Amino acid sequence: MNTTPKTPEAGNALYGGVTNRRVTIRDLARAKQRGERWPMLTAYDALTSRIFDDAGIPVLLVGDSAANVVYGYESTVPITMDELVPLTAAVARSTKRALVVSDLPFGAYQGSPQQALEAASRFMKEGGAQAVKLEGGRAVAPQVELLVSAGVPVMGHVGLTPQSVNTLGGYRVQGRGEAAEELLKDAKELERAGAFSVVLEAVPADLAAEVTRQLSIPTIGIGAGAGTDAQVLVWQDMAGLSPRVAKFVKTYANLADTLRDAASEYADEVVNGAFPAEEHTYKS
Ligand code: KIV
Repeated sequence: MNTTPKTPEAGNALYGGVTNRRVTIRDLARAKQRGERWPMLTAYDALTSRIFDDAGIPVLLVGDSAANVVYGYESTVPITMDELVPLTAAVARSTKRALVVSDLPFGAYQGSPQQALEAASRFMKEGGAQAVKLEGGRAVAPQVELLVSAGVPVMGHVGLTPQSVNTLGGYRVQGRGEAAEELLKDAKELERAGAFSVVLEAVPADLAAEVTRQLSIPTIGIGAGAGTDAQVLVWQDMAGLSPRVAKFVKTYANLADTLRDAASEYADEVVNGAFPAEEHTYKS
């Protein structure tokens, strides 16, 4: 499939602009220099990632949110590499243009830089990811340094880091008051360690804008206001498939109703004999 990507927004070379090769971390760095904003979405399977690739989304994240939206876990803590690597491979196989970033799951990198490198190697060799994301600030800087020196592009993630929900005491806004300075230090340390971008999740908009000003790498906001270089949403949230969404989510479609209606209509037609009709039937 992979038809011509959507026409880019005027003046935006990254969103829809590069058509004949994968987007690279250099493209993202240049977009920051040009002051261009760009969208990122999560992706977990072949058909939807192909659609997002065709739509010109330049970066697709195989998030550990797959724990919730694919595997039905309560949090992102239980998901394993064995569960996430095959989803990464499906997304990488089905896309031609998007930079594919995969989350390193909880427990796969916190132990040591060497452990992080072994995990990242699986996602790149078996999953075909072009980059990995890990959660945390200064504590994971040694991991980021080793990965980058070994040739693994790393996306950082600070603010609300869902893998630490048990120490954070719930899914709450981070970086308020005195914690703002600590969050800024974490983001700067990730940049120093070599991260090519950093996700800011659930932080006040003024803090996210300040981090964005002080960093030369792109910031990607989720619940972080309009002042970041990029935005990310879980695709099932933005497309209206998730039963509950956070305040920061905008829903652009109502796929839950569409699918429910389609399933009911199909079921009715099977029951009343309207499906399959003549045109769905092979002749001998
Ligand atoms: O796993 C995920 O989907 C994420 C995004 C919300 C940033 O980490």
